[in-house]
Amino acid sequence: MTRSGLDSRWRDPEQPERGGRDRFHVAINMDGNGRWALARGRLREEGHAAGAAAVRRTVEAAPSFGITTLTLYAFSSDNWRRPGREVDNLMFLFQKYLDSECARLTDRGVRFNVIGRRDRIADSLRRSIAHVEARTSEGTALHLRVAIDYSAREALLAAAGRIAKGMPPARDTFERALFEAIHAPSGTRDVDLLIRTGGEQRLSDFLLWESAYAELYFTNVLWPDFTEADLAAAVEAFALRDRRYGGILKAAP
Ligand code: FPP
Repeated sequence: MTRSGLDSRWRDPEQPERGGRDRFHVAINMDGNGRWALARGRLREEGHAAGAAAVRRTVEAAPSFGITTLTLYAFSSDNWRRPGREVDNLMFLFQKYLDSECARLTDRGVRFNVIGRRDRIADSLRRSIAHVEARTSEGTALHLRVAIDYSAREALLAAAGRIAKGMPPARDTFERALFEAIHAPSGTRDVDLLIRTGGEQRLSDFLLWESAYAELYFTNVLWPDFTEADLAAAVEAFALRDRRYGGILKAAP
């Protein structure tokens, strides 16, 4: 297959310069809430509450860095294994965030979506998600996606399942159909920059397909401490990376 053939197979037609700054997708694995709280002699729940404040700061700062899509990993499907009290608190925080931020997100032109399963969360949370998604659907300043009960492996299996059921119709190849099925739930694009806070350096089942060519950035900053300056540092580091997608530098002989 020629290089252009390869490119057209994977490239989103709406994103001709993949990774170009006309679209800039940043994904964040927000790690370190628990350690932030423990270091202060506080409950893990207080760490999550401080993490919610960092979410607000980051969402509000994102457009000024040219970020067009921001995907935040709030609750992995494996997080159900945590103690019931912590899970309940996280669900409460998601509900509170939706209730308190809906008008603010709308005013700021933020389009909001949740990715992940919706069949295991409470009806009230599911309804609030649908409400905020509908209210913010016209937003163009930033596409905010929050991953709740999310597993990248499960998303891939679900996409394959949709194809097996004939949705969407396999227009070209299986790969093209898979690409579309994975991106369909909230119309996302490949990740350009994947940030993980909290010092760990792993993917933890987050956006495995979409991050195939993501630049990875790890920081020891615990998520509740993450500020606009930390986001700036990550974006600056990204700007210095050479993105070759398996090719070679243009200037190379
Ligand atoms: C990982 O830190 C973080 C989580 C599992 C929850 C993320 C939730 C928030 C940032 C708050 C609310 C979010 C929204 C969208 C309003 P951890 O608890 O595993 O930290 P640790 O590794 O230090 O224990």
